[in-house]
Amino acid sequence: MLFKMERRVVYLETMLLTFIAVISAVSCCSPSDRAALLAFKAGLNEPYLGIFDSWTGTDCCANWHSVSCDPETGRVADISLRGESEDPILTKSGRTGYMTGTISPEICKLDRLTNFILADWKGISGEIPSCLTSLSSLHVLDLIGNRLTGKIPTDIGSLTRLTVLNLADNALTGKIPESIVSIKGLKHIDLSNNQLTGEIPVQFGQLKMLSRALLNRNRLTGPIPKSITSMDRLADLDLSMNQISDWIPDQIGKMRVLSTLNLDSNLITGKIPPTLLSSGMGILNLSRNALEGNIPNVFGPHSYFMALDLSFNNLKGPIPGSLSSAKYIGHLDMSHNHLCGAIPVGSPFDHLEASSFANNDCLCGNPLRTC
Ligand SMILES: *[C@@H]1O[C@H](CO)[C@@H](O)[C@H](O)[C@H]1NC(C)=O
Repeated sequence: MLFKMERRVVYLETMLLTFIAVISAVSCCSPSDRAALLAFKAGLNEPYLGIFDSWTGTDCCANWHSVSCDPETGRVADISLRGESEDPILTKSGRTGYMTGTISPEICKLDRLTNFILADWKGISGEIPSCLTSLSSLHVLDLIGNRLTGKIPTDIGSLTRLTVLNLADNALTGKIPESIVSIKGLKHIDLSNNQLTGEIPVQFGQLKMLSRALLNRNRLTGPIPKSITSMDRLADLDLSMNQISDWIPDQIGKMRVLSTLNLDSNLITGKIPPTLLSSGMGILNLSRNALEGNIPNVFGPHSYFMALDLSFNNLKGPIPGSLSSAKYIGHLDMSHNHLCGAIPVGSPFDHLEASSFANNDCLCGNPLRTC
């Protein structure tokens, strides 16, 4: 009897030990992941907050600040280091993050990484390691707000699972790689405030899931690709402060959900496509281009503009009468053109100031001088 019980206990103990072994094999950081993280840490210098102080010991999946692992595989899945956030380390210190150094290519050994966020540290320099494009599980790549230089890796399109690509506020040069258009699930791209040159890939419109595309404040040239007009989920397009030329594609106003379009401070010529003003646009900035012709007379009760800025162009003719039937016009700027004639009357105009109409050829009526 006793013998039997002992055997059962031994059996249970063995079960338990096996169970514990399985658990720890799974939850503990793999040695190669740990080595990769330590190499990554060694490439960076964070002088004020001790962000990396917890990166010691063998289990990188437990209590290493900003690191988390997939509970099933025990592999490192997320690195989420934000220099401007609600992180207690930051809020307690009352300062924003600052880090120097470079991104070690050893990071590419974390081949199960799904989110890599190294954002707003202001001082991280060097290039984006080209081997990052081998991290085929990557969903989010966010390196905003550093001092990264060099090019966006040419084969960025290999990151086929990417949904968010944020490389804004760095000093990246070179072209937007053509391969980017093959990232079928991309929802959000922000490359603003870099020094990117060349043209926007002609097939940009293949990014059918994209809802925000922010490419402003670069040195992009060439036309707005016509393919963009087929993007049914694009709500926010910002190409401002580049050297984009040529005409605005006619069909752009027919895009299903586009509601914010910033094309200001470029070299765009030609006329304003009527559909752009008669569609569901909420914010439209075409300021500081070389647009010509009349402002299309196509406004109506469906027109609801938080901001409509057509200033600093070569527009001529009158302010269209239909604008007075618009449902709402928040900020309106038609200054610095060659408009002429009586400013329409109506509720959208009640609150507007003279500066909205200043520096034209011969506009008159409230809020300017009477005709
Ligand atoms: C439109 O763009 C111009 C030039 O880039 C800028 O100065 C202006 O503030 C913008 N207008 C609105 C309403 O944001």
